[in-house]
Amino acid sequence: MRGAALDLILLGPPGAGKGTQARRLGAAFNLVQLSTGDLLRDAVVAGTKAGLAAKSIMEAGGLAPAETVIAIVDGRLDHPDISGGVIFDGFPRSIAQAEALQHLLEKRGRTLALVLSLEVNEDAVVERISGRYTCERCGEGFHDRFKRPRIEGVCDVCGSSAFQRRADDSAETVRDRLAAYRRDTAPLIEYYAQKHLLAPIDAMSTIDTVSDRIAARVSAVSKDRGVKPVP
Ligand code: AP5
Repeated sequence: MRGAALDLILLGPPGAGKGTQARRLGAAFNLVQLSTGDLLRDAVVAGTKAGLAAKSIMEAGGLAPAETVIAIVDGRLDHPDISGGVIFDGFPRSIAQAEALQHLLEKRGRTLALVLSLEVNEDAVVERISGRYTCERCGEGFHDRFKRPRIEGVCDVCGSSAFQRRADDSAETVRDRLAAYRRDTAPLIEYYAQKHLLAPIDAMSTIDTVSDRIAARVSAVSKDRGVKPVP
């Protein structure tokens, strides 16, 4: 038993480092990463109804229909692997989604522990996104400048040599994704501040330094909640 579940949100604009940090945090604290972007991309590849509803919107940098996203999250929260806690990565993305998340957690007897808000400037975000690629097999993220594989062309984690870049990472689509962030998602910063859940994180440092800052905040809140450390 680890005590109460530790449910966290990683909030931030596209390219802020949510996915990168969610993977590290998940490994360090034994939490499940729930990325709505990944789940939607899986649905697009699988050609499901949700994928068909989201595909063209994602390609244009807009937000997928809220009911589609909420249904996907609801289904994912039914898996038993989330009992120790979830890192919501890319969800919620609007006040309406935040209210839906509260309801989804409440009906399972859970409450949010913390909202980590990654603070970055927009120039950095564009640079981070334009150099990004991932391992096709295990999903590990890399960057042309900031995070190259230890052996060129070979994934550090699984050894695969197949990599991919995202279709929505073009300069034009990134501008539209940033506009959607400013319009729909940024108001969540004030929303969670008022609920005393917000932990601003300066994310303009190296990946390791940002991880340390996040781990310090999560350790403190997990102690408060009586969550036992992962051995
Ligand atoms: P999603 O997949 O969530 O994308 P996003 O929010 O745009 O975020 P990214 O994945 O682009 O960036 P990230 O913050 O995870 O950064 P990363 O760690 O990769 O969503 C895609 C689309 O799906 C949306 O546009 C929308 O259409 C739809 N969607 C998803 N969720 C939805 C929802 N809830 N409702 C409606 N629609 C939804 O880092 C970027 C790069 O920078 C990497 O190469 C990394 O190595 C590097 N890096 C990271 N940190 C640092 C650092 N500190 N220093 C230097 N480099 C760094």
